[in-house]
Amino acid sequence: MIVLKTTRELSLMKEACVIAAGALKAAGEAVEPGVSTEEINRIAHNFIVKSGAIPTFKGYNGYPAAACISINDEVIHGIPSKKRIIKAGDIVSVDVGATFNGYVGDNAATFAAGDISPEAQRLCDTTRESLYEGIKMAVAGGRLGDIGSTIQRYCEERGFSVVREFTGHGVGKQMHEDPSVPNFGTPGRGVRLLPGMTIAIEPMINMGGAGIRQLPDGWTIKTKDGSLSAHFEHTIAITSNGPVILTKI
Ligand code: MF3
Ligand code: CO
Repeated sequence: MIVLKTTRELSLMKEACVIAAGALKAAGEAVEPGVSTEEINRIAHNFIVKSGAIPTFKGYNGYPAAACISINDEVIHGIPSKKRIIKAGDIVSVDVGATFNGYVGDNAATFAAGDISPEAQRLCDTTRESLYEGIKMAVAGGRLGDIGSTIQRYCEERGFSVVREFTGHGVGKQMHEDPSVPNFGTPGRGVRLLPGMTIAIEPMINMGGAGIRQLPDGWTIKTKDGSLSAHFEHTIAITSNGPVILTKI
């Protein structure tokens, strides 16, 4: 069931999203060679708590941290660790959610640690740009497939591939609500987009093949072929005035 939000609910949700965005920004600014992924998590966690919000991910299906931190060929859901030290040239995906006013804000971005290769930069740029191209399609009267197909085309035209097993999602009082928001699809197909829908759009894009595997830790998702992967996510609202990026600060 897709839950439509009123304007008042959207303004409550916006506050959660601004906190999630602040946590992501603070975490991203701390990404540097020599820093542990646990330190990045701590910065995100502290930002959320000092804002009076709840780290949405912590305890979700037993997940142990406030943020997911995924390096290089890790696609998503990397578990922060004191022993995992960021190196120069790494690309570091940080995904973080905050619950405030009873609503969830969810966002992610991939950050460069020191100088990264031109190909890695292109992967990150393309993934971020594809998110914004997808967001442009999040208009009332459109279809869910307009978003996914736009992201897919943008990335595949540039030689990259779209992860299929994980998708974006509706978001609101719950982190994961209907509908599922794939980063692939067919224009004009899928659920009709309506004012009041709030969705997280989150392309996960690989430099090599689309295949992924899960590590024995039960969380970390890596590319099957060891190629680099990038991830960008915003929580957005579909309104009669077009898409609104709630996790924008
Ligand atoms: N942001 C992720 C998503 O969009 C959720 C992280 S999974 C968790 O689905 F278990 F860590 F919360
Ligand atoms: Co999400």
